[in-house]
Order: sequence, then structure tokens, then C-alpha cells
Amino acid sequence: MNPSTLRFLIPTLLLALAGAGLLHAQQPADADKRIDALLQKMSLKEKIDLIGGVDGFYLRDVPSAGLPRLKMSDGPMGARNDGPATTTGGIALAATWNTVLAESVGAEIGRDARARGTHFLLGPGVNICLAPMNGRNFEYFGEDPFLSGRIAAAYIQGMQKQGVSATVKHFLGNNSEYDRHNVEAEIDERTMREIYLPAFEAAVKIGHVASIMDSYNLVNGYHLTQNPYLNKDVVKSGWNFDGLIISDWSATYDGVEAANAGMDIEMPSGAYMNSKTLLPAIETGKVTVATIDDKVRRILRVAMRFGWMDRAQTDLTIPAYNVAGKNAALQTAREGMVLLKNDSNLLPVSRGSIRSIALLGPDAHPAIPSGGGSASVKPFAAVSFLDGLTNALGPSANVYYHRGIPKWSQLANSTAFTTAGGRPGLQVEVFGNKDFSGSPVATRIDEHINVRPPFTVTELLAGEVPEVDKLSKEAHDSSTRWSGLYSAAAAGSYRVFVESPTDGVAGFRLSIDGKPVIDDWKLRKAIIDQNSIELSAGKHQVVFERYQTGFNFLGDLVRVGIVPATGLVDPAAKALAAKADLVVLAVGYDNDSESEGGDRTFGLPIGQDELIREISAVNKKVVVVVTSGGNVDSSKWLPQVSGLIQAWYPGQEGGTALAEILLGDVNPSGRLPFTFEKRWEDNPAHDSYYPEPGTRRVVYRSGVFVGYRGYEHNGTQPLFPFGYGLSYTAFKYGNLSLKQLDGAGKYEVSFDVTNTGKREGAEVAQIYVGANGASVPRPAKELKAFSKVTLRPGETKRVSVELDPRSFAYFDVPGKQWKADAGDYEVLVGHSSAEIELRRKVTLERALAIAVSE
Ligand code: BGC
Repeated sequence: MNPSTLRFLIPTLLLALAGAGLLHAQQPADADKRIDALLQKMSLKEKIDLIGGVDGFYLRDVPSAGLPRLKMSDGPMGARNDGPATTTGGIALAATWNTVLAESVGAEIGRDARARGTHFLLGPGVNICLAPMNGRNFEYFGEDPFLSGRIAAAYIQGMQKQGVSATVKHFLGNNSEYDRHNVEAEIDERTMREIYLPAFEAAVKIGHVASIMDSYNLVNGYHLTQNPYLNKDVVKSGWNFDGLIISDWSATYDGVEAANAGMDIEMPSGAYMNSKTLLPAIETGKVTVATIDDKVRRILRVAMRFGWMDRAQTDLTIPAYNVAGKNAALQTAREGMVLLKNDSNLLPVSRGSIRSIALLGPDAHPAIPSGGGSASVKPFAAVSFLDGLTNALGPSANVYYHRGIPKWSQLANSTAFTTAGGRPGLQVEVFGNKDFSGSPVATRIDEHINVRPPFTVTELLAGEVPEVDKLSKEAHDSSTRWSGLYSAAAAGSYRVFVESPTDGVAGFRLSIDGKPVIDDWKLRKAIIDQNSIELSAGKHQVVFERYQTGFNFLGDLVRVGIVPATGLVDPAAKALAAKADLVVLAVGYDNDSESEGGDRTFGLPIGQDELIREISAVNKKVVVVVTSGGNVDSSKWLPQVSGLIQAWYPGQEGGTALAEILLGDVNPSGRLPFTFEKRWEDNPAHDSYYPEPGTRRVVYRSGVFVGYRGYEHNGTQPLFPFGYGLSYTAFKYGNLSLKQLDGAGKYEVSFDVTNTGKREGAEVAQIYVGANGASVPRPAKELKAFSKVTLRPGETKRVSVELDPRSFAYFDVPGKQWKADAGDYEVLVGHSSAEIELRRKVTLERALAIAVSE
């Protein structure tokens, strides 16, 4: 372990131990007796009232049972709901491949929760990354079920030791954000067991998570909140889960079905699971009292497990401004950033050799700690790349900053329209239905399409919505058409975008001269969608249409821009770049363009490809730093730049960490938690990420071959493989040995890792298992263990990890169990999924069977 990890870990561990005494005060048998007695005291009405939330994020108190009002808060990258709090990276945490750090991050977020009286923290999120466009990848832990599960389990353990229940989400198949309330994932049993369930399974079996959140979407015909197979058979009976299953916010559609399908708590209110629905159902025998009792029993069991009935949840000894949390966030940013390209060892740059750095781009300042939506936590202070670099360099060098390209709002406002009658602007017609039928209920002229009602998503989530806007919760269907003319000053290439964040059923389409330019009518593919077109000089007919049904928690912002491709890059930025010793280009997304509630584009937002290309034409020393939850299309500029750092959303301390990495104070040790594709078409999920034509059904056709499993199966070369990341030093592997521990699939794998370079650094040793000649089609290799090891120059450490029967197994569908065929396997050890350094054959003399409960 890194010494700096230890430094901030020790106080966390001490606090955790102090808190632990509170946690297991009650022995299970005593607890059961106490719960039985409390159940007797509660009326049926009280029980039903308890299983539906109240006031957005609470469960009602039950004075007769001594149960206090229980408070929930988002999650996952900080305790969001009560003003500023520690904000850490999400996918950045997975990119650290450091479970010790993950535990401390969970612990610090848990401590923030205790300081704020929160009982349930709504995280971690472990949905598997299929496509870089998924708007919530930044909250999750990547494409590999093993990595994701181990990071999640450690985070949960850290958090729960603080007396706070973690809530692993979003169960299950919520692997995209477009149309998230309606999409139905069709996943076969084996794929579900091997790819999509294991991170949840690790959360339950290793992390002992107390709560699971059911997602919005459907899996195999049923919404998750009404999915008895997944909630009851797989989780509760199969994994012996005795905690709670809660709904995502407004993800319940039928109270009786949800009650019977194993969902325990409806959030944010009992809109469906309430007395009006359930009492008659109990009378007619559709729901039993025992079913309701089981839910209440689970709530009481969790409350007792964490001591909530015996002490105050608000711990006033914990400072709200949490210094250990700040350090955990910093360490996550340091260890999570991934150095992907470093031509001619341009990095690190030494302080003495640099007099000027041009720090350019939209993500340089202000800081962008996280993507958007419910995971967006406001820190007390966030260090932007500009702050970080300027502070780190001090007087030794100048940092010249420029945004480089216009903002979306500026692009929209620079797009000049005229109406058919020659007035500036566009004719707007608003209809009280979603398909423009009848006469408009309102008409007006908008000078530009840049329209925003007076609230933002942050205000809304913080409950600061002005009274008048609360009315829009009752919003009905609407459709709006803008029409007019756009005058192209010169013939040439134009960039076009539509920004329309909508968490719900909505669509938009833009046509120019009658031809569709952006069509997100049936499927809203991106919150901000974009395209390029060629226009002749002169006037062009523009029609933009948008519809929406119901309330939209992301607000009703609508922007449209049409701008010439030339001239996007500010000449001042180019001038700064031309005379700088080094250029750092901070590009990517932000909490508007990459957010919960929708997907994003694979291509960088408008102007950024141009920015990178035009800047790298005037300076050869360009390092691109990408802020995003996943890969972006780098094909238009990657060969022209010398350096590439994937910064993810680094949390509140990103600027400090980036500066330390650029200047060599920290040696990069982040590794990719998913494969980076050269082109989206190369991704194994490419043909099955969107619904089948004319349906909302997404058939998971890639089966178990997702991520690196798929690239290897299909023989496709990725841009950067899973597990990849560069260091300022080099590592050598040797002396692999395998020790059989029990004759039944347990092995100890040991090997040496040596730092052969001149700097201290950390290596992530990755251990994969490949099955040769299996009776079912299997991936060439699968990650089964990893270990992060810090080494001084010249130092060698022996690393040991354990493999168990599950390391060799696939899910045997007819047998409803895990199975490892007898025969040969290979244990592979290396830097990444594509850089294997050591390998050894293992033979299982007999087949192994493992029950789902194990
Ligand atoms: C999100 C959840 C979140 C909940 C409460 C939902 O929209 O999907 O992840 O925990 O809101 O904010």
C-alpha cells in the first residue's frame, strides 16, 4: 500500500473501530425476539405507512415501536442531500484498483452521512458499462463484474462500519440512461449470472450490504420493483439476503405486484404501496399480512443492526468539513487518473524546465467534480485544473488559461434566425399534447432557441424549487415547434446541436431544408446531440420540434445552435499555445452534457475536436486531459498529441492530483476499468445497445462477451485494453508459482513484481483465468484477482492472491448452479488484459459444482 494511502487511512480505521461497537450490540436471536415484540405493537396501517417513503427521502417514524424517522441521501460519490460534503470520484475509484482506498472512501462518505444524520446512503452504483455513451458510467465501476464487485464490497464495508446502510444500485440491467423508465433488458440467465449480477452478489455476500435499490427499467418482462424472480428467487432466497430492497424514485407501477414481488420500500412515497391499495388486497387474499410483516421485519432488522433504535444517527463529534474525506478524495483522484499516452516521455515535466504552461479548454476551470443528476454533490471547495496547476507551480512558471471555445449558451445565442415574415427569431407554437394536434395553446417569437424556466436541476434536487415551479410536477404532455430561417454567411461545414435534458418520455428533431439533421424523436440518444452538415451560403428553412410527457426533473432547458465549423477556436487560445513550453488541453463533458437522465454522444462536444487539432498544429507538446465517465472518440486527433490523461470526474481534488501527476510528484497508477474502443462500431455491444426497431426491448445479444471478453472473442483490437495504464517507471514480473490449497479449486497464486525504473510507483497486478476446451463458449480470459503494489526503484515484492472454485466456473443454466468442468485452465498474470507476462496451466482433475448461495 502507498504510504500516503496509509496516512489518511489510520484515523478512518480508528473511528470505524470505535463505531463498530455500536453495530453488533444485538445478537441475531435477541434481535428476532425484539422484532417479534415490536411487530405485535404495530397496527397494520402503521406497517403499511412505514413501507412507503415520505418527504422525498425519509421513512416515517413509528413511536409505538421506538423506530425513529429514517433518513436517506444520495450517493454514491458523497452525501449529497444536506449542503456541501466530500465529493469523490466514482468511476475514478474503480480506476484506482485499490480496495483499501475504496474502503476508506466508503468510510468517509459514511462519516459525512453520520455528521448529517443520514441512515441510508444511496450508493454504490455497480451497473456494468456497455457503451461509453451511458450517462451514468461516471457513477459506476466499469465493465468487469469482478473489479466492480470488489470495489463495491470494500466501499460498502467502509461505509457500514460507520453505522450507515449502503444501498447498492441500480438492480438490474440499468445499463443505459436513454428512456430509462421504459427500456426492457432481455438478458439470458447465464449472461445475467456471469456479467450483470456478480457485482450485486459481491455487495451482498462480501460487503454485507443492508439495502439494494431496484432500477426503473424492466428485465425479462417485469419492472424490477415488480420482478419476483430477481428480488425474491435470486437475491433474497438465492443469496440469503436479509436486508431491504427499495425502489428507485418513482420506479413502482403497481402496489400489489410490488408487494408480492419482494420489493420492501417504495420511494419517494407510497404512491402505490399504500393502505388504499394494500388493505383491500389483504382482505381479498391477494397480499398476505405475512408479506407486509416481512418488509417491516427487514426494516427493523436493519435499524437494529446499525443501532438506529438505540442512539441518535447525527454524530456531532464528526466535523461537517471532513479533512480525512478531503484526503480520501485526493487519493482517489491521484490513483484514479490514467496515463494513456506519453510520447517521448514528455511527462512528467520538471519544474525547473518549464516557464510557461498554456492550460486551455472548457474543462480547465471551474472544477467539474462529477457528472450531473442525483450523484452531483456540492463540495465545500473544489480544486479546478487551473487552481491545481497554478498552485503547484507557484512563482516558477506562468499558467496561461483560456477556455478556447464558446459555451453551449453562446453557440445558441450566436445562431441568428429570421421568421418567414422577416422578424428576428423563430415562430413558436406550443401544443397541450405530445403530437401537435389541434390548435396551439400559445404562440410567441423566440429570438434564439435558448429557453430555460427559472430553476436548475441542482435547485430542484435540493428542494429549492420556487412554489410556482412545483406546479409543473403536474405538467401534462406538451409539444413545441420552432420554425424560421437560418442564414449561412458562407458555404461550408456547419456544426449543429440540440440540448434538451429530459428525464422522461421526450424527443426532439431538427430539420434543415426539410432534411432531418438531428433525429432523437423516437429515441433520445443524447442529452446534447450534435451533427455536422454542409450548407450553401444564404437562407435555409429550419424546423425544430420537441415533445415531452409528464414532469421533468432535469428542468426544461432547450437550446439549438447552428455554427460554422471554422472560427470555433478562439485566436487568443492559439496565440497562448504557440508560445507556451507545454500545452495542457482540458476537454470532455460536464454535469450538463453527461448526466443521469440521458445518454451522451461518443464524439466530444462541439468545438473540442477543432480545439485539439488547431492547438496541436501550433505546439507539438500537447497533453490532452479528458473529463468524462468513459471513452470518447479520439480518432480525429489522437495521433497529433503527445500525451493523453483520462481524468474521469475526479471529485473535489482533481486539480491538485492532475498537477502532481504532470509534475511527477505522483506517479500515475490508474488503470482502465473498461476497454477503450477505436470506434463505437468495434464495441461488442454496438449491435445490441439500442432497442430492437419499433420496440423498447434491448436484447443483450453479446451475451457474456461484453468488454474485453467481447473484443477478445471477436478478434477486435481496442484502442486501449481493459486494465491498461502507463507509469513513469516500469515493472517486471517473474517466478510464478501455484499452490493447490484444498484439492477442490482453491489455489494460491504467487509471483514477483519488480520496479525496474528510477521512480517509486504502484503496479496493478492483474490475474486472469482462461478456460481451455470448456463445454460452453467461454471468454478467452476473465479477471479473477488483482493486487495493487507500491515499489521503490529496484524493489521486488512477492504478491500472493487466492483463486477459488468460482474463479474457474461458468453458470450452468440447466443445473442452476456454478460449474467448473474438469480439464485444463490457464492462470495469466500481467499489466493489463492484453499484456500478459506470466502464465501457468492448471488442471482440474474433477468437475466442481458451486451452489448459488455460496
Ligand atoms: C436515481 C437514484 C437516486 C434517486 C434519489 C433517482 O432518480 O436514479 O440513483 O438515488 O433518484 O435521488
